[in-house]
Amino acid sequence: MEALSSEVVITHSLTTNLHLLMVSFYRPTSTRYKILCEKKAFPSDQYALESQVKFHGYDPKDAIIEIAPREGDHLITDQDILDTIRKHGNEIALVMIGGVNYYSGQLFDMEAITKAGHEVGAVVGFDLAHAAGNVKLNLHDWQVDFAAWCSYKYLNSSPGGVSGMFVHKNHENKPELPRFAGWWGHDKSTRFLMEPGFKPMPGAEGWQLSNAPVLGMAAHLASLDIFDEVGMNKLIEKRIKLTNYLEEIVQEISAKYSAVCEFEIITPKEEKRRGAQLSILVHGKGKPLFDSLTKQGVIADWREPNVIRIAPTPLYNSFEDIFNFGQALEKAISAHN
Ligand SMILES: Cc1ncc(COP(=O)(O)O)c(C=O)c1O
Repeated sequence: MEALSSEVVITHSLTTNLHLLMVSFYRPTSTRYKILCEKKAFPSDQYALESQVKFHGYDPKDAIIEIAPREGDHLITDQDILDTIRKHGNEIALVMIGGVNYYSGQLFDMEAITKAGHEVGAVVGFDLAHAAGNVKLNLHDWQVDFAAWCSYKYLNSSPGGVSGMFVHKNHENKPELPRFAGWWGHDKSTRFLMEPGFKPMPGAEGWQLSNAPVLGMAAHLASLDIFDEVGMNKLIEKRIKLTNYLEEIVQEISAKYSAVCEFEIITPKEEKRRGAQLSILVHGKGKPLFDSLTKQGVIADWREPNVIRIAPTPLYNSFEDIFNFGQALEKAISAHN
């Protein structure tokens, strides 16, 4: 992630952070009160957006604009996002999108979305749960207003592990921004004087409420140390090769068994539109296949109605793992057809 250190803080959990950031960055007015997001955003994001809108007295059906894939398609085009931003222009208070969609694995063009959002006068934020540790994130240069992510996908810091927040330097010295305050966001040098009168720390640290959970932070630090040692560039280089190889294997198997079970990879083909994840739509019996993969030791993920998500992680998955996945998949197909 490319950001200034003052723009990033590790604290709380992801949904909490999204809410805290929206308290500051979703500031609806009577004419500009809409939030634009992708259809099929992660449910917690949907609930967070809905409740924020209601909190300000608006009706989610009117105030939330969801961009859906075109008829018969699984993916949302970046162009449709940009066109919708322009179409609704000055009604949009906030653009809030998952940088990589959890379901399809689609990586959105965050730079272009941010630019288009700013051109119409909206604030732009991203949920980076599936992007952090997976794809390049030049949040500072892209001028993203805010972002939050969890540390328990690619960042390997255990379920429920600490979340990260990004607040662009442009918002560092804006005392007029409302926020929910807690003592850990108060000026470090006077925090322990325990005096009344909240004085936020400059930068992202000023959004902290509570002191850090030591065990969660220790696990996260251990993981980040490894990322630092290897570097994102090398990880991305290997991730592209691993995911391409996985794609090849799935396609080969799909062609071989097309009479009984076909696989449609709904994740974009282009490298710049995806990260590690491939979402495989099974035309046939998906759930027994997934269960069989799990029994064979493959840690994948099942999403209704018929999608298996696989993400080869460059830090610890090998090309041999992917070859073995192919073998396990063939075994599962043979057993269930
Ligand atoms: C995209 C996305 N947003 C939000 C969340 C919720 O995170 P948390 O439980 O840390 O609030 C998740 C969790 O998996 C997620 O994948």
